[in-house]
Amino acid sequence: MTEARLNLDLSSLPKISPPIVGHTIYHFRSVDSTNDLMKRMVRRGTATHGTVVVSDEQMSGRGRLGRAWEAAPGSGLLTSTFVEPFDPGLSYAVCSLAVSSAVHMVTDRLPEIKWPNDLLLDGLKIGGILVEAQGRGYIAGIGINSNMNSEELARIGQKATSLRVACGHIVDQSRLLGALLSCLEGEHERSRSFPEAVFRDWRDALVTLGRQVEVETSRERWVGQAVDVAPDGSLLVTNDKRIVHVYAADVRLRAV
Ligand code: BTN
Repeated sequence: MTEARLNLDLSSLPKISPPIVGHTIYHFRSVDSTNDLMKRMVRRGTATHGTVVVSDEQMSGRGRLGRAWEAAPGSGLLTSTFVEPFDPGLSYAVCSLAVSSAVHMVTDRLPEIKWPNDLLLDGLKIGGILVEAQGRGYIAGIGINSNMNSEELARIGQKATSLRVACGHIVDQSRLLGALLSCLEGEHERSRSFPEAVFRDWRDALVTLGRQVEVETSRERWVGQAVDVAPDGSLLVTNDKRIVHVYAADVRLRAV
């Protein structure tokens, strides 16, 4: 783990960052995974609600379902925030609404949310969220493809884009981080006072609902209709004549 020297101008954050989320921000040049580092900090008692880790590079960045999360150094916003308490049914809603609003604030483009954790622009992934329970709270691991160029995106080899490619200009990562922390704080506070409203906003924003989807779990694969989300955050999908709760699965949107 090395101290960071590049990219983010954290001195610009106090003016725009909120009082709780982002009260302490640790910025590194390279770490294994910001989520793994945060996990160790929570265990050691050196992270509290609102502590943030951000790194220019991750050597073993992780995504959902055991996948790797790749980004060339400085090309993406890679960050983990410790949030208390943990509400399993709302954590993805809080994080994805926050990412969507932050991107909107900084680029004027509003990403769509694909259940449970993908942020899309032009149907392509621009960000992902990895929520991991830890202690009395959870680690909100957020990766945003901010400034990747076309070659870097091609190297990832997925259906992905970046804010730079989608918007046609470089994004100020300090502004994006400031907006993200501010929106994360706002959505988290709102989820404490008005959980139903946050759940409803997330449900309304999900591009997945009403679509034909291909669901792939570790045991089976089928095509069904995504009909709703349950209060525990699971996706309700038809499977033959039944409706099943989908928790850990790859859910691909079928062409309309
Ligand atoms: C996904 O789409 O599968 C979730 C990707 C989450 C990636 C972020 S990058 C910062 C944080 N640290 C990690 O190791 N993963 C998350």
